Amino acid sequence: MTKHEDLLHMLLNAEGRFVSGEEISRNLSISRTAVWKHVNKLRDMGYEFEAVSRKGYRLVTKPDSIDATGLQLALDTTVFGRKAVFLASTLSTQGDVLKLAEQGQAEGAVVIAEEQTGGRGRFGRQWFSPPGKGIWMSVLLRPDLPLQHTPQLTLLTGVAVCRAVRACSGADAGIKWPNDVLIDGRKVCGILLESTVEDHEVRYCIAGIGVDVNFDPEDYPEDLTTIATSLKMETGQSVDRTKLTAAILTELEQLYFLYQKEGFGVISALWEALSVSMNREITVTNPHGVIEGKAIGLDPSGALVVEKRDGEHTLIISGEISW
Ligand code: BTN
Repeated sequence: MTKHEDLLHMLLNAEGRFVSGEEISRNLSISRTAVWKHVNKLRDMGYEFEAVSRKGYRLVTKPDSIDATGLQLALDTTVFGRKAVFLASTLSTQGDVLKLAEQGQAEGAVVIAEEQTGGRGRFGRQWFSPPGKGIWMSVLLRPDLPLQHTPQLTLLTGVAVCRAVRACSGADAGIKWPNDVLIDGRKVCGILLESTVEDHEVRYCIAGIGVDVNFDPEDYPEDLTTIATSLKMETGQSVDRTKLTAAILTELEQLYFLYQKEGFGVISALWEALSVSMNREITVTNPHGVIEGKAIGLDPSGALVVEKRDGEHTLIISGEISW
C-alpha cells in the first residue's frame, strides 16, 4: 500500500474520530509535513477532512464516485480487482476488458466505469448505464474450461452478485434464471458473460456486471419503470458503491476459487437456494421455440431442468424465462 492508502486506512478505521498528526506520523514513519501532503492528496481525490490543531484529522465524507483507493482497502481478495482500471465514461466496459485480455492481462483484472454510453445487455439489448448511480464493471476470467461448461460461470456470477447485494443492502434479493438479480420481482442487476473460444476450449471469459445502485424513480426512462429497480429505491437508503463493488469482487473470487477446487456441485446448491425461479411454472422462450413447465433444478452441467406438463424433463441452456 502507498502512504496515502495507509493514511486513509487509519482514518477509515477511526470511524469519524480524530487521529492526531503525531500518531499518523509515528505509524506511517513519515514527517508531519508529509502527513499534511498526503491529507491534501486524499482531498484532491474527493475525501473531506476536518483538521483541528492539537486534535488532528477526522474523515468527514468520502468521494461519491467509486474510488480506487477505497476499493483496494475494501477488497478481501488476492487477485480479483487488484488490477482495476477506472473510467469516467466509456462505450462498454466489456470492450475495454476485451482489449486487456488480448494484451495478455492476467485473470481478475477489472474495468469499472462511472458511465457507459453503449452499455450492452443479453440478446443484443442496450443496457441503461447513466453516470454516478450504478456499478458498471467487467471482470476478466481465464478458466480452464470446455465451452459447454461456461453456463456454470454465468450462474456462479449471479450467486456472487446476489450474495454481495444482500450483504451490503440488506435487500431480499433473489436470482431469476440464469442470473438476473431481482428484488420483489424487479430487476436490480444484469450479468452478461461473454466467452472467447479456440478449439472448443475457452481462452477467456468476460463477466459484465451492471447493478442499479442509487437510482431514483425519475432516473429511469419510461420503458424501464415497471421492470427495473434500484437498491436505494428498494431499501430507502443509498448504498456505498465502492463497498458493494468490493463485496461483489470478493464473493466472486471466493466462489470462483471454490468452483475450481470442488467443482460445480456446491455452486449449484447455492444458486438453487437463492433462486426465485425454482419450483415455479415458467415459460421459456429461446430460438428453438417456447417451452412451458416447472423449473425443478439445475443439472450437473448448469442447464435448467424443466418438467413439462407431460412429465418429460427437458434441459434449457439459453433463453429467457417468464412466469
Ligand atoms: C443483461 O441483459 O441483463 C445483462 C446486462 C449486463 C450489463 C453490464 S454493465 C457492465 C458490462 N458492460 C456492458 O456493456 N454490459 C455489462
